[in-house]
Amino acid sequence: MNRTQLTTTADLTREEVDFLIKEAESMREARHTDDLKGKVVATLFFEPSTRTRLSFESAAARLGASIIGVADASTTSTKKGETLADTIQVFDKLADIVVMRQPTSGAAEEVIKYTKKPFVNGGDGANQHPSQALLDTYTIHREAGAIDGKTIAFVGDLKYGRTVHSLLYLVSLYDIKVVFVSPEELKISEKYTNLLKERGVEYEETEDLSEAVKKSDIIYMTRIQAERFEDPREYDKLKGCYILDANLVKQGKESLKVLHPLPRVDEIATDVDELPQAAYFRQVENGLYMRMGLLKYLSSNYNE
Ligand code: CP
Repeated sequence: MNRTQLTTTADLTREEVDFLIKEAESMREARHTDDLKGKVVATLFFEPSTRTRLSFESAAARLGASIIGVADASTTSTKKGETLADTIQVFDKLADIVVMRQPTSGAAEEVIKYTKKPFVNGGDGANQHPSQALLDTYTIHREAGAIDGKTIAFVGDLKYGRTVHSLLYLVSLYDIKVVFVSPEELKISEKYTNLLKERGVEYEETEDLSEAVKKSDIIYMTRIQAERFEDPREYDKLKGCYILDANLVKQGKESLKVLHPLPRVDEIATDVDELPQAAYFRQVENGLYMRMGLLKYLSSNYNE
């Protein structure tokens, strides 16, 4: 457990995830610490973000760090043709920890060839979003009391959804069952069903959301992501394909919890928000504490 960079959840161990859940719990109690006092955290977001960028910035501030960053790629020298490799080498000199989001799958693995400093992938295309997966796992642990023994339904865009891809690596470290709910066009890829087979996790695939709600402990809703479709007509065909409303939620177990990485478009009706099953805004707060724990963990393993 001496990691300094997090680009993917694929190589995280259960021991590490459990450790980070404990760290997040202790950050929840502490609220503010000076673990990163004197450090500079850079948030480089070359794709839109509300939660990830601002919760990393809030986490860094609560750990006593200073923050620099990019929220709009059009204001940077990448517009003049500077490469990502050069950009990261610049931030290697300006910051102690870098959090980066990029629209290209695989960008995070490429970038860490140019820096040894603590680094977090804040999302790279349809590939990975590891800090989201950690906060999602923490949320399941808090909301359901445990992860072992739970049935988790993943709903919506399972093809392009990087949060689903990252989370599957983490929840499959536990004794769970998985239900995939998607239209044929947005099915989970074999890469992930093979992962579940390798790890001995039982799963099923269906297009029926109502059936999945009845048998699950956790519903992980996702947005159909317009920005990942090459042909906008394909998006128009699929948008609105699954809508979870209060009536549907009430058909599930009383202990059912609904998660969503957010932002939502229309896949969860606002009448769900007032139900105790709606965990998605609590999930945002959990993200703050998980990111505090993660920044502390990566930074404490780094020696200049
Ligand atoms: N969940 C998530 O990644 O949200 P943002 O795109 O707002 O960062």
